[in-house]
Amino acid sequence: MIVAIDGPSGTGKSSTSKAVASQLGLSYLDTGAQYRAMTWWMITNGVDVNDPAAVATAAAKPVLVSGTDPAGPTITVDGADAAVPIRTQEVTSRVSAVSAVPEVRTLVTELQRSIAAAAVGGIVVEGRDIGTTVLPDADLKIFLTASPEARAARRSGELTGKEAVDVAVTRAALVTRDAADAGRKTSPLAKAADAVEVDTTDLTLQQVIACVVTLVEEKR
Ligand code: C5P
Repeated sequence: MIVAIDGPSGTGKSSTSKAVASQLGLSYLDTGAQYRAMTWWMITNGVDVNDPAAVATAAAKPVLVSGTDPAGPTITVDGADAAVPIRTQEVTSRVSAVSAVPEVRTLVTELQRSIAAAAVGGIVVEGRDIGTTVLPDADLKIFLTASPEARAARRSGELTGKEAVDVAVTRAALVTRDAADAGRKTSPLAKAADAVEVDTTDLTLQQVIACVVTLVEEKR
């Protein structure tokens, strides 16, 4: 059972995907974390993320490893735990530039396919291009959406301390990132023709999880 869950940021993809995987005994892969980890490595190694040629050349160097337990997913880069540093505003604001580079996508897509193929019993894979490009033969494809206001409010609620910013700033950043992700040439953020669209604007997280669990069970 391979479940692809795509959609823009702030739609509840990660929370939903982890919960669905846990409830159904499936593995879980956060592909956004892999692009973030690649971006973090580029920043810490002095690669100019706005120079696609430099990013393309450097892309094969870092070794990314993703742990797929939905109760505690992990991500390491060259053996270093990247879970915390990949969530900074600096990485968030630069990840779209890195993920738009075709050489980066080719490498990360191959890694994602090998992880999905090795997942015993099945996997929930979340991202932007899983249903369209990475796993076009997935058993079930879901495309989560929500209004920009709802997405910004959720994202603001997740940020704390010095990273906390107001909802308007978060909304602007989300819209900019989505436009970059949806507008890039190589496998942009898009709904697959055969994906089920779920608008989460007026749904609680529990309702979204229940909806997706039902859709998976119908396919089993
Ligand atoms: O899901 P998350 O917000 O962590 O994703 C971070 C970024 O990674 C996205 O904004 C996008 O640029 C990139 N991404 C992608 N393809 C995916 C998953 C994420 O390009 N399948």
